[in-house]
Amino acid sequence: MCGIVGYVGKRDCSKVLIESLSKLEYRGYDSAGIAVFEDGEIKTCKARGELANLVSKLNNEGGIKGNCGIGHTRWATHGEPSDINSHPHGNANVTIVHNGIIENYKSIKTRLEGKGYVFQSQTDTETVAKLLDYYYKGDPVEAIRKTESKIEGSYALGIIFRDFPDTVFALRKDSPLIVAVGEDEAFIASDVPAILRYTKDYYLLEVGELATLKDGKVSFTNLDGEPIEKTMLTANWDEEAAEKGGYEHYMLKEIHEQPTAIRTTITPRITDGMPNLEECGITEDMLRNYKNIFVVACGTAMHAGLVGKYVIEKIGRIPVTVDVASEFRYRHPIITKEDLVVLVSQSGETADTKEALRLAKKKGAATLAIVNVKGSSIAREADHVIYTHAGPEIAVASTKAYMVQLAVMYLFAFELAHAKGTLSEEECKRLTAELCEIPKAIESVLSQKDNCQYVASQLVNSENLLYIGRGLDYALSMEGSLKLKEISYIHSESYAAGELKHGTISLVTELMPVIAVATQRELFDKTVSNVKEVKARGAKTYLVTHSYIRVDDDVADYTIGVPTVDDLLMPMLAVVPLQLIAYYTSVLRGNNVDKPRNLAKSVTVE
Ligand code: M6R
Repeated sequence: MCGIVGYVGKRDCSKVLIESLSKLEYRGYDSAGIAVFEDGEIKTCKARGELANLVSKLNNEGGIKGNCGIGHTRWATHGEPSDINSHPHGNANVTIVHNGIIENYKSIKTRLEGKGYVFQSQTDTETVAKLLDYYYKGDPVEAIRKTESKIEGSYALGIIFRDFPDTVFALRKDSPLIVAVGEDEAFIASDVPAILRYTKDYYLLEVGELATLKDGKVSFTNLDGEPIEKTMLTANWDEEAAEKGGYEHYMLKEIHEQPTAIRTTITPRITDGMPNLEECGITEDMLRNYKNIFVVACGTAMHAGLVGKYVIEKIGRIPVTVDVASEFRYRHPIITKEDLVVLVSQSGETADTKEALRLAKKKGAATLAIVNVKGSSIAREADHVIYTHAGPEIAVASTKAYMVQLAVMYLFAFELAHAKGTLSEEECKRLTAELCEIPKAIESVLSQKDNCQYVASQLVNSENLLYIGRGLDYALSMEGSLKLKEISYIHSESYAAGELKHGTISLVTELMPVIAVATQRELFDKTVSNVKEVKARGAKTYLVTHSYIRVDDDVADYTIGVPTVDDLLMPMLAVVPLQLIAYYTSVLRGNNVDKPRNLAKSVTVE
């Protein structure tokens, strides 16, 4: 999704904007641009494609020298990726960068065309720039206030006016924006990594607030110009944490950070060997009383919910429904005041998940967010929040965020089951203790990267692939399959192993490798029968199971073993080889692992 930056200070603004935009590349983009005041005039440079294209265009044009400006990476929604559709948009008087979607842009555009405005781009954003120009009569706040009252949709906006050559204005609704302050300098950005090189101190801009960055300082007002006092936050990530730390790709680094991420996430939530979510406002009394649980999320986060469903239903004996957020919003779900809706999201800004949260609140259900990004919209709007402490996840393909979402799902399930009396204290302590051992076990799985590299080398030329499993292994295979397809571009599907015979097995030939996950011992023999069925039809088979289990050659061409923990917790171990297989396959295919085509890290539009 689009990334916004802005700077006011003494440094070379173009350089700061480009550096900051480079820290937002993980969000996904297809073009970039900056607008900087040079000798009192707004100078703009924009280019389709990677930031490097913008940098070389800037260099070819002699650069823009100034200390105040705004920048943008665009992920196309309205109009193709092109120089002309790239941000910033505007004219010599007012220029803006925008993240989000202006829903009523067509009617505004028609109105402005009637007043003589001519549009250059196909974007919704240009209508906001022109509307600001239309309302601007010498008072920027008045122009912003009038414009804001006319636009519908989601936005974070960085705005500069020619008459105020040392000032950046910013406001937002439903798209994230932070305002950061350093020594005699101030910044705006869509996310914290953009400013970490310069400062760790920042504010979260709220809806209805206007930030004015001037003379290296920042002030906040409402749209009537009345001052607002805000609390400053300090990022606990340093720049290094947001860098690759010696790994070839962020994704590989993040896979290796999983043990630490789990420890950081669970340790503060365990007291005397028992899960304790009180710091997140969750008490056993509350947990006892819910009638139904809905887990709503998108992509990988939804897959974490699928594992959660198995675990919660098995030990907590309460019905759990897992929904894709974009479906939940529109399927008229039957939820009541007695239900709990759990929203899972790494970014905390996913548009569909956010709207699902709002729907659940409207229906009176209790809401719980499991979110990684502190202060994100979903975290702030939910009744309760359990933060996952994965640190910044930069690779588009989610790995460590999924892992800590699982860790939280387990803690939650254990506490709920104990509260409901379906899990004894002794069992609860035993499972919690096993959860604490998972990081060490993952470290041993990570040491087997050669096996995963080998499997990747066997898969690299495949066009199609199947993942199969039963129970928790099926839930997990869905994540393995998504990981592979999103970064290797190999078509893959995940199937409940017992369902193959009902149609899909007709696709199985020697050209269809099958990755089977069989860690659930009560289902092991049944899964193995299904593996034999595909092998008998020519498929090459790769099995992920407990390392102590040996299978015959008529089952698997290659086996990857993982350490044994309680079967309930096996997904946390079995997912690691699947992540590594996806990673190495993508590397072998020469793909852009961290920024796969067509994908954005944070999907802030519907
Ligand atoms: O930020 P969120 O967790 O809400 O994002 C949800 C999905 O967009 C995300 O998990 C996506 O599926 C990842 N690219 C998967 O690796």
